[in-house]
Amino acid sequence: MDILQQLQQAPKRWLVTGCAGFIGSNLVEALLKANQQVVGLDNFATGHRRNLDEVQTLVSPAQWANFSFINGDIRQLEHCQQACSGVDYVLHQAALGSVPRSINDPITTNDTNISGFLNILVAARDAGVKRFVYAASSSTYGDHPALPKVEDVIGKPLSPYAITKYVNELYADVFSRTYGFHSIGLRYFNVFGPRQDPNGAYAAVIPKWAAAMIANDDVVINGDGETSRDFCFVANAVQANIRAALADISQSEVFNVALGDRTTLNELFNGLAQSLADNGIHYTKAAQYGEFRSGDVRHSQADISKAKTMLGYAPEYRIRDGLKLAMPWYIQQQ
Ligand SMILES: NC(=O)c1ccc[n+]([C@@H]2O[C@H](COP(=O)([O-])OP(=O)(O)OC[C@H]3O[C@@H](n4cnc5c(N)ncnc54)[C@H](O)[C@@H]3O)[C@@H](O)[C@H]2O)c1
Repeated sequence: MDILQQLQQAPKRWLVTGCAGFIGSNLVEALLKANQQVVGLDNFATGHRRNLDEVQTLVSPAQWANFSFINGDIRQLEHCQQACSGVDYVLHQAALGSVPRSINDPITTNDTNISGFLNILVAARDAGVKRFVYAASSSTYGDHPALPKVEDVIGKPLSPYAITKYVNELYADVFSRTYGFHSIGLRYFNVFGPRQDPNGAYAAVIPKWAAAMIANDDVVINGDGETSRDFCFVANAVQANIRAALADISQSEVFNVALGDRTTLNELFNGLAQSLADNGIHYTKAAQYGEFRSGDVRHSQADISKAKTMLGYAPEYRIRDGLKLAMPWYIQQQ
């Protein structure tokens, strides 16, 4: 990726919040491989130390020496201040993901995703960082039916989680107008790849189904399987983050980060079975169909032209490429 080579010429100091999670640990890995200085902040709410251990095995000892970890909580302003000190770029990933989790426990999701966000935003502003990039979400499109999704056209949120991610965007915008502190929100659409947690009640669909298929368990599809999503391999999201950090933009913006394509759950099921077969594992069970899940939107597909034009974002991995790269990791987890 040429953007990473560009970085190597002039190493900078980055803060990755949520560094022990899925996307955060992939950001840490990419930045360390580009010889950057990286500070990571996480409280292991949903992330794991083993993700950081895995990153350590994937970089050189000299690159790993450029990483420092803060075991801290974004709900504590002083942890955020400590983490932002001396940092050039913030990539804020820490949050409680999952629509169902937010429906079961809206208060903890709100505390983390809104109060925690405000703490890190204030700390980043006060530390004078060059750019604050944060994980927004496609859930902000809510009940608006238009497809593909264009940044300016959103509907009403369908879950507490979606509210929190929309509030992040509102705060970012107000900080831009009020304090001249500009930031970039990346509305991720169903990111997948290595180190995405396959376990627990709130696991995302790809690691959850992959784990079930590897164990020859039943796969239950919520609804009729014609629900669709724009699945995005994590390396594309990493590219978007780095481009957003370095972009020459002097106002706050949000961008869709996706592939710009649509895959139904039935197609995903078949794609996963095919990818497993390519790895010598033959899943022969038929999919089971269950109830539609509350808070889920029916179809999701991004228009990525804004990120292409303003960030130079060019997703390099299609869903099939991503599944091919992620499958050995899923298999290794069993
Ligand atoms: N994965 C996706 O498809 C997707 C889609 C849209 C948005 N997002 C957003 O991207 C970000 C990263 O998601 P992910 O999939 O890597 O999830 P993840 O759960 O793997 O990572 C989140 C990390 O944040 C940490 N964290 C949670 N609360 C914290 C707190 N109070 N203080 C410090 N750290 C805390 C967790 O321990 C975890 O390591 C989140 O903001 C999420 O809402 C993800």
